[in-house]
Amino acid sequence: MPDPLDSPLVPPALRDALHLAPDNAPLLLHVAETVLRSGGFAEAEALFKRVLALDARNAAAKLGLAAAFFQQGKHGAAHVIVEDMVKGDEPLPRALLLHARLALHAGEPRLAARQYARAREADAKLADPALEKELGAHLPKRPAPQLPKSLPPTTAPAPEEPPLFGQTESDDATRQRLPAGDLPADLSGAEPERPTTTFADVGGMEPVKEEVRMKIILPLQQPDLFKAYGKKIGGGILMYGPPGCGKTYLARATAGEVNAGFLSVGISDVLDMWIGQSEKNLHSLFEQARSHRPCVLFFDEVDALGANRSDMLKSGGRQIINQFLSELDGVATSNEGVLVLAATNAPWHLDPAFRRPGRFDRILFVPPPDQAARASILRLLLKGKPVAEIDFDALAKKTEGFSGADLKAVIDVAVEAKLREAMRAGSLQPLAGRDLLDAVKRHKPTVSDWFQTAKNHALYANQSGLYDDILAYMKISK
Ligand SMILES: Nc1ncnc2c1ncn2[C@@H]1O[C@H](COP(=O)(O)OP(=O)(O)OP(=O)(O)O)[C@@H](O)[C@H]1O
Ligand SMILES: [Mg+2]
Repeated sequence: MPDPLDSPLVPPALRDALHLAPDNAPLLLHVAETVLRSGGFAEAEALFKRVLALDARNAAAKLGLAAAFFQQGKHGAAHVIVEDMVKGDEPLPRALLLHARLALHAGEPRLAARQYARAREADAKLADPALEKELGAHLPKRPAPQLPKSLPPTTAPAPEEPPLFGQTESDDATRQRLPAGDLPADLSGAEPERPTTTFADVGGMEPVKEEVRMKIILPLQQPDLFKAYGKKIGGGILMYGPPGCGKTYLARATAGEVNAGFLSVGISDVLDMWIGQSEKNLHSLFEQARSHRPCVLFFDEVDALGANRSDMLKSGGRQIINQFLSELDGVATSNEGVLVLAATNAPWHLDPAFRRPGRFDRILFVPPPDQAARASILRLLLKGKPVAEIDFDALAKKTEGFSGADLKAVIDVAVEAKLREAMRAGSLQPLAGRDLLDAVKRHKPTVSDWFQTAKNHALYANQSGLYDDILAYMKISK
């Protein structure tokens, strides 16, 4: 098959942007979704696979791939993906909707109706009169207020196979809608969260904790001391590293540690603000943080903001980056009790302008936990659960290369197995070391893919030794 990027369905501005940043997963995802919406199902399939090669856990890409399969009649392949996605506690509403369609095709109308009802409940915009008609009597009897009342059920033209990502949009390269992010575009009214976790709940990560203490907590608590030594206050900390190693967790705990509010802003929110025409929103977000000080303002997955630069340049969106940077500068100069933290898996995509003094001038590598940290994370994660005597050090030894999130998954697996056992036996047994070791054997650690990519950047694009920590961690000498 020819390169899917050569498809005429790819808007030229996006194609150019991708040539400049071929590994930009959010951008690729956006292109894939655009192509899917325009009906290029085979091309979309190839593009979603590329996104997943860069970011295997990307839920929007998984769903997109499933949708592309579905549209091509590859129902089995679509089913495998979607079934996995709807397992958790809070499945994506769109995954439920696709599951409903697949179930209907597979001759399981009752399952289809159940999943459709869940999807509609979670997101009223997903209501689909045509599908409802097909599901008919299987649907639970309850009014669906979100359906347009004026729609006469028999004469309404059945919509074409509805696009799986909302309404069809024209391919307007200057107004790109980015995927995922069900958050409101206008965050100015968001109340900061008040986290209760503190550094005591975070296992290991001592160097990061120390840096956060020194660089942003102490200046907040003892500004005079810092002034006395003529030490400049301000600037944020950017954490980078493989997924699941505690970046977001630590940011939240920082707020708990100083009893501050916590405002977390995802990249999709920032981009939505841009798309939603108003840089105003971005400003009011910073204002929001200032009016609730002390407040931790946390930018998650900040890389995509820098990475979309070339794409944004074309669409006049450079403004948002500039404004973002000047808001950061504002925080730095007035030091109004706003602590700025950011996290990313892909620091190499970040615009270098972000790294100037007073912005994210401290860049910290957050590696997977070492043995001692793993033991303490396991202890923390098992707190309050019924456990027998457990040799945490032995367990930590057996989990080399596991991230915090991996350890959490191990415990989930062990707990599940124990519950099943308890139901069979009719009595609850405490979790023992044995159970956890069994679970360890069944879980594959998730960070190795990240290190493959990181290694290339550290070896071949390591400006001023920025990624020396990665090489040191991987025991590679330059
Ligand atoms: N050091 C730690 N101490 C305690 N729990 C941890 C630690 N690291 C990770 N965890 C657990 O793993 C989960 C995932 O971690 P977190 O979301 O902070 O990772 P992340 O580094 O932000 O990953 P990503 O790059 O994918 O966003 C946390 O919610 C927490 O339960
Ligand atoms: Mg995170």
